[in-house]
Amino acid sequence: MSRVETLIRDMTLAEKLGQLTMTASSYAVTGPVIAGDSTESIKDGTLGNLLNMVGADHVFEMQRLAVEGSRLRIPLLIGLDIIHGHRTLFPVPLAEAALFDPQAWTLTAREAATEAAADGLAMTFAPMLDVSRDPRWGRGVEGFGEDPWLGARMAEAKVRGFQGSDLSAGNSLAACAKHFCAYGAVTAGREYAAVDISERALHEVHLPPFAAAIASGVATVMPSFTDLAAVPMTAHVALLRGWLREEHAFDGVIVSDYNAIAELINHGIAADLVDAATLALKAGVDIDMMSDAYRRGLPKALERGLVTMAQIDTAVRRVLTLKEKLGLFEDPYRRGGTAEAPAAIANRRQVARSVGARAIVMLKNEKDTLPLARPMRCLAVIGPLADAPAEMGGAWGAAQNAEDHVSVVAGVRAALPQVEILHTAGVGIQSGDQHGISKALELCTQADEILLCVGEAANMSGEAASRAHLGLPGEQRGFAEAVLEHAKALGKRVIVVVFSGRPLVVPWLFEKADAVLAAWFLGSEAGNAIADVVTGRVSPSGRTPITWPRDTGQIPIFFGQRPSGRPANPQDHFTSKYLDTPNEPLFPFGHGLTYGRFVLSNLRVTPDCVTESGIIEICVDVSNAGARGAQETVFLFTRDPVASVTRPLLELKGFGKIALEPGATGTVTLQLPAAELRFLGLELKRVFEPGEVELLVGPCADRSQLLVKSVRLSG
Ligand code: NOJ
Repeated sequence: MSRVETLIRDMTLAEKLGQLTMTASSYAVTGPVIAGDSTESIKDGTLGNLLNMVGADHVFEMQRLAVEGSRLRIPLLIGLDIIHGHRTLFPVPLAEAALFDPQAWTLTAREAATEAAADGLAMTFAPMLDVSRDPRWGRGVEGFGEDPWLGARMAEAKVRGFQGSDLSAGNSLAACAKHFCAYGAVTAGREYAAVDISERALHEVHLPPFAAAIASGVATVMPSFTDLAAVPMTAHVALLRGWLREEHAFDGVIVSDYNAIAELINHGIAADLVDAATLALKAGVDIDMMSDAYRRGLPKALERGLVTMAQIDTAVRRVLTLKEKLGLFEDPYRRGGTAEAPAAIANRRQVARSVGARAIVMLKNEKDTLPLARPMRCLAVIGPLADAPAEMGGAWGAAQNAEDHVSVVAGVRAALPQVEILHTAGVGIQSGDQHGISKALELCTQADEILLCVGEAANMSGEAASRAHLGLPGEQRGFAEAVLEHAKALGKRVIVVVFSGRPLVVPWLFEKADAVLAAWFLGSEAGNAIADVVTGRVSPSGRTPITWPRDTGQIPIFFGQRPSGRPANPQDHFTSKYLDTPNEPLFPFGHGLTYGRFVLSNLRVTPDCVTESGIIEICVDVSNAGARGAQETVFLFTRDPVASVTRPLLELKGFGKIALEPGATGTVTLQLPAAELRFLGLELKRVFEPGEVELLVGPCADRSQLLVKSVRLSG
């Protein structure tokens, strides 16, 4: 009999339920419920999993209690939210998405896994795969933005990075595809609110990233806190048992979100913990994170015949199998046994710096304001985010030491040792105090150039961080306007660095600033990464993975909208538009300037007619007509103008990159399997419909900037 089956045979009910329970240590707090001392339950075998433990010593201490002190010596599974780094923080996922580089996405996940595993951890609650089309929702920062195809690519890359090629390796973590599913579609962008979307939106938009994660072998899945059309995801039989386990053959562990099983009572589908535990177990949730509903509710549910021992055993089997795959039985101290070499840690900081620089999206650069290549005596680096190391990390700090992050002031000082750097905050991020503004204006008078760092605090995006107003918080608008006007009167240019976990709605800022960089939250090396771009050491190449609205009233706004029967026409009143604002966003998906000037031409598509098994090759010439070397990103979209159901105005199907010196020309070649042009037909089944499909290639999702060719699909 196998190890897992022997254990199940020998386990008491209490020990089984212990394996289905995960509680928090109090080293890091990521939710409202704090568990007490867990050491006794670990010793008596009634607690099998922990979250939020930091430091190999602590992990080992707990692991020792389990494997040396408990009857069956089953090792603990210990997880933490390693979302964008562990001790070394990389850019937040939304920023990383801006790289459009799967290898880089894998690399940072690999580095984060290696660092976290060196701390004794075996599981991360990442990647987050929720499509986010409403920037009011704060958790968009944890994902890849608005596009499901991009989300699927990020899912594959992140699972590969966290899990490596061998889950049992000392530097691999079990990844967790979360939050399953459609959490990003919460009503009005309000955190934890209800979700009610169409079956088509669910299958076309929200599920593809999860399908990609499962196909990549993700070890665990976490249902979202939310409901979906009246069924809370933690109890969603059709999606957890049906879609995930049966249709997609997912046989890994389903771990509930924090206290989510008990919250079935608040949702109003369970009267008590017995009901709640029954619903979750029957839906296929294996681990109860933080509710203690399984330990407290399942014994009664069993007595009353609401659940069976076989159902409990199935969940226990999955948990033990995961522990086995992670190599925990073989050597529970494999992770965390050896301290990392200083060179590995230093190299990780370099990765954070280079990925950070590449995640920056240059939204505006009037009259080549950037890079700061001119000789300069004095630079004013002002604003509440200019010297705020602790804010640079972003939404999920994991085991960060926030004071170790490099601020913009520190980064610019290191990059420009000959230049005098003047700094004052001017105003706080959210405070109402305006006293510092006059000092900031004085510094602008003294300086040759002005770098203004404004935006959100790191904790204004992420979990429980929805916002109804997407402008600059506190007194920052008044402050920024004063600086911009003062600089204009002095004939000086202002470069604005915007920090945020979402697109902000600040059209006035984009209009008045000379240059604007979206810096999102770049992690430990933020200041150095920003200095690299500002000084021209690195040519910016990030592209926004999410549309920037010009008005909050346009939300949700995304490039994959469906056509209207009355497309917008300014000459015709009865068409799809607003009376008071244009339909177009301020910056479309994919927008991002470089220090080069790229011209795309000569789009070729071969063959011009394909069957479902064919491959379409798309080539486009790219020339750099600018004065500096840079990297261009080319997107491939499709548009199916006549189909059995309406198709989105643009669908992302690929991207490519090319680095070119000034005056150079190259070719970007992309391959598109024709099968990717299938879509969900009237019956929500995949169909390949004969007819013309447009292939559109260009720098962003603005149709007027795309080159177009058609291909004929034949049956
Ligand atoms: C709640 C969050 O929704 C989830 O993303 C996270 O993994 C857990 N808390 C654990 O911290």
